[in-house]
Amino acid sequence: MRPLSSFLQVIPILTALTLVVPTNAQVATDKSPRLAERDGRHALLVDGAPFLVLGAQIGNSSAWPSLLEEKVWPALESMHVNTAEAPVYWEQIEPQPGNFDWTNVDALLSGAREHNLHLILLWFGTWKNGNDHYVPQWVKTHPEKFPRMENSAGAPIDDLSANAPANMEADRAAFAALMRHLAEKDSSEHTVLMMQVENESGGIGAVRDFSAESNREFAGQVPAELVRALGKQPGTWSEVFPGTADESFQAWHQARYVNAIAEAGKREFNIPFYCNVWLAYPPAELPERRIATAGIGYPSGGPNQLMLPIWKFAAPSIDLIGPDLYSSDPSFYLNTLDTYARPDNPLWVPETGQGDVYAPYFFSALGRGAIGFSPFGVDWTGWLPKSTVPKAHAANYALVGSMDRTLAKLNFAGKLKTMTEVAGGASQQVIFFADPALHASGGVDDALINASLLANAMVAPAQVGNAATRVADQAGAWIAEARFGFPQRDGEGAPGSADKSGRVLVAQMGPNEFLLAGIGAAVFFHRPGYLPGIRMQILSAEEGYFTPASMPGAPEEWHRIRILNGDETDRGIRFPDPHAIPIGLDAAQPAGGDPASPSPRQHAPVSVRVLLDRF
Ligand code: DGJ
Repeated sequence: MRPLSSFLQVIPILTALTLVVPTNAQVATDKSPRLAERDGRHALLVDGAPFLVLGAQIGNSSAWPSLLEEKVWPALESMHVNTAEAPVYWEQIEPQPGNFDWTNVDALLSGAREHNLHLILLWFGTWKNGNDHYVPQWVKTHPEKFPRMENSAGAPIDDLSANAPANMEADRAAFAALMRHLAEKDSSEHTVLMMQVENESGGIGAVRDFSAESNREFAGQVPAELVRALGKQPGTWSEVFPGTADESFQAWHQARYVNAIAEAGKREFNIPFYCNVWLAYPPAELPERRIATAGIGYPSGGPNQLMLPIWKFAAPSIDLIGPDLYSSDPSFYLNTLDTYARPDNPLWVPETGQGDVYAPYFFSALGRGAIGFSPFGVDWTGWLPKSTVPKAHAANYALVGSMDRTLAKLNFAGKLKTMTEVAGGASQQVIFFADPALHASGGVDDALINASLLANAMVAPAQVGNAATRVADQAGAWIAEARFGFPQRDGEGAPGSADKSGRVLVAQMGPNEFLLAGIGAAVFFHRPGYLPGIRMQILSAEEGYFTPASMPGAPEEWHRIRILNGDETDRGIRFPDPHAIPIGLDAAQPAGGDPASPSPRQHAPVSVRVLLDRF
């Protein structure tokens, strides 16, 4: 078997050639979806402006024309998503080598457009959840041509080998054909926002490929470019990666395999590509797979927390890597978000649980600059009974759905912060400066002091707070404080909610102007060092809602419902308990329901715009 590494060496030459040869490939226009980076923050640009993916993924076997109208689109609409994640099956699009069937893909495109949704398509190719179950029969039944991965006993497992060029070439040809088809169908409409290349790639059943060829290579030196990129000393795999040599070897080959496929796809249609990850969970988090070992507890070779640095170097055609998050443990969830939110890796949660307990993490991801979020298995083909929606996720999306562009833009500018009860207790604070550059200057958090230390009106300005609060106050900073749970009685701390579901976003629209939205919380503003309401005033607090812009990229329109004052501001600006939220669930009807019933948008929950002043 010719090692893949020798094959990959010819790719740069081929790439250089294709640059000068005209092809029928559609070059993405500058309005095509693309990623932008500024000061380590990220945006997904759609039609030229930042877009926030309010996503949901349909079931593995749901992307069939026979199901879409009745069981898929209405479920997604009821949930207020703006983007559907849907699989494309290699076995379906290429039933015979080189013969392509676009029926399912075209049904997804036309249905999504009819239902005013974007798509993220998931390439179920060589890998699906650490196995090869979606490869066509003509691949499955010819292991002599398309070699399987071998375990340490030399037995084949349920995975194609990442070290076999024939496997990569076959997958690459199919994926390139898919991207060519999408370029033809979608280069002007921009229905498809991103492509997921493979699904939770990796091997279940072996930590690496143990074929004779791979064993020989494993005994040799780690490629110099990898050693250099990771800042390590040269040596064999076991020397460079003590304790994770086999998994690192697998990750390197797999990342390059996936990269070769992505590179070919990008030549056809250049939109953002990502990989999703089956994470390495602590054993207790996954009782049915108690051994947290690569190849057993999770697929070996995927871009999990530990292998991320190898993947970021080895797969440059993969723009981002997103964690599939199926543990609701707060420290696991938040640490994982922090691991994948990197200046070189936009944060994107391509899958998470659809249970209510996962919904507050949408706000945690937003607060870390996420470009999107997407619970799994939300259609009505099996995971959920017909006409039901994941309520807490739907509440989130209903809350922010009409201002998704506004939020994405503010987040890209570094002006959006969130507080989630699950992350840090019943009372939390965030600070905003008029000049966002000050955020980067350090010491900002020192200006956040415990509520019991905040000064009242009697204290002279020179004695308020500490040195950091005084500097922040002079720089015009504002602090937003969320208090979670109700009732909030005078003279008592916030009670928190029973299920820790409170969540709030605060975005700075101008030096003294803020946009708020949330669930299960009251928000107070104050100057650094002072109690809320001291030496400051609310000039206006408008409760209202946005409606989507008439043109892509234009600002969303604000509609005032009323001006809040008195108890509605003096006791914090309150966002209702999750169980009292009007999320338009009555609009969750199967297709053919009462056309006169109000659209979910008409139920859009309110947000509040606040203008502050100090004196
Ligand atoms: C993660 C996978 O990526 C999905 O396709 C699906 O199998 C879910 N797990 C099921 O929990």
